[in-house]
Amino acid sequence: MPLRSDDWYEGETRNAYIHRGWMRRGAPDSAFEGRPQIAIANTASDLTPCNVHLHEVAKSVRDGVYEAGGIPLELPVVSLGETQVRPTAMLWRNMAAMATEEMLRANPIDGVVLLGGCDKTIPSLLMAACSVGLPAVVIPGGPMLTGTFRGRPMGCGTEVWRLSEEVRAGTITNEEFTDSEKSTVRSKGHCNTMGTASTMGLLAEALGMVLPGTAGIPAPDSRLLQQSHAAGRLAVEMVRADRRPSQILTRAAFHNAIIALAAIGGSTNAVVHLLAIAGRVGVDLTLDDFDRIGSRVPLLVDLQPAGRFLMDDLYRAGGLAAVLNEVKDLLDPAALTVTGRPLVEHLEGAEVWDREVIRKREEPLVAEAGLAILRGNLAPDGAVIKPAAASAHLLQHRGRAVVFDSIEDFHARVDDPDLDVDADSVMVLRGCGPKGYPGMPEVSNMPIPAKLLAQGVRDVVRVCDGRMSGTAYGTVVLHVAPESAAGGPLSLVESGDWIELDVAGRRLTLDVPEDVLAARTASAATIDAYAAPTRGWERLYVDHVMQADTGADLDFLVGSSGSRVTRESH
Ligand code: FES
Ligand code: MG
Repeated sequence: MPLRSDDWYEGETRNAYIHRGWMRRGAPDSAFEGRPQIAIANTASDLTPCNVHLHEVAKSVRDGVYEAGGIPLELPVVSLGETQVRPTAMLWRNMAAMATEEMLRANPIDGVVLLGGCDKTIPSLLMAACSVGLPAVVIPGGPMLTGTFRGRPMGCGTEVWRLSEEVRAGTITNEEFTDSEKSTVRSKGHCNTMGTASTMGLLAEALGMVLPGTAGIPAPDSRLLQQSHAAGRLAVEMVRADRRPSQILTRAAFHNAIIALAAIGGSTNAVVHLLAIAGRVGVDLTLDDFDRIGSRVPLLVDLQPAGRFLMDDLYRAGGLAAVLNEVKDLLDPAALTVTGRPLVEHLEGAEVWDREVIRKREEPLVAEAGLAILRGNLAPDGAVIKPAAASAHLLQHRGRAVVFDSIEDFHARVDDPDLDVDADSVMVLRGCGPKGYPGMPEVSNMPIPAKLLAQGVRDVVRVCDGRMSGTAYGTVVLHVAPESAAGGPLSLVESGDWIELDVAGRRLTLDVPEDVLAARTASAATIDAYAAPTRGWERLYVDHVMQADTGADLDFLVGSSGSRVTRESH
């Protein structure tokens, strides 16, 4: 079968001379004679600490590619460090995806190995791979090992949220809090809780885009390098078999990913990422699919933030395959993986080695664990809540709104002793959607007001058009669509309005008569709180970003352009 890269390297023309000549660098002649050119799209960066070890992973991939007869070509791509990048890494996900897509298309590449880890990196790589359509395999960089502080395991993120609330409640000192910082990141790898990075690594495998058995291997574990070597070999085989993302990322694959998302208790961020990936590959996935397919699936994995353990415990207990084996009957057997074989075939013989970490189907952590999709006059296009991370007593709740127009407004007033808030209030934060912030930051799990903390309150209902970190918890209604900056009803809520949350009934209702609501206009304070970028990526983003219910991709990036480039460069 001819290779895409033959278009660059084959023949006696001046252009082939130029393409080969500059790429020789001591390579044998055979490098340009029918050997698959495999890009290693690498998100390693000193500014993405979770992915820094991917340089080492790339070496093993290179060996595997060479061994199978291919030519490995490392391609550094845009990398997003969740904890470092301002104003939010999500603002840059689509930019990273676009840049990776374009560089894969522009270069003489036949297939690609995608190295990701930290939250946005795997989603952006998958979006890129779908839009260029070349054979692709993902290697999730894996979680870090568990650090401990005073004998207590430190769940990344989750422990920071918990300890900082304890400081505000006065139960630990600031010195103790600061002291715990050194124990948070024990080794290379991404966050060790069931946050977004862990979730997206595992879901990439559930989608079929990872060599089965790879996702969840801790970053420092030598087995990750062994799998990376094998993935390098596999990429070459995939090019020869012409196995493309569109054959793997079918509706059946997304079905399986949604089952997996519920069974592992994964991050709510997976919703926007899976919707965006589906949009790139042309699968008509909707917000309601998450509820319909996933909401009755049991939570089997006892990991923070929903439970107790951390990612290296999950791997020790049998990993993703063991979890999926428990819910095998719910999976779509038609979904294929990068190996060309169905996902379900790869689950055979997967055993659970620790029943504390991976529960039996009959003894789940939560019986119905998937996400609930809410609708109502406050979220006509939908909103998301993760009941497993919420307080049971708040899942059916009616309370008065306390409204904040921006995250800055929230920070300025949350601890004001005069703030009119009590344990039954519904805290509303707007201006945090894709357009309004811009970039849809993880701020929806607003800290509890100090005066409520002092009363022992640890959770109140919160409603926001932003996202929440996968490591966070609480009764938080997220991704409200349309967002306030796009003219959603959230922009019309006033403090004191009654809001009703009914998770069982899947309703989020603003109890204000229609005519009263129709007479209201968004306050000047609300509008002033929205970003209005004048140039650059932010400008492009605000003009083209879609709402959360369709994945917050840019409208013109939906779909695929394929890999063909018809024009030469000289
Ligand atoms: Fe990178 Fe959490 S900060 S995965
Ligand atoms: Mg995050």
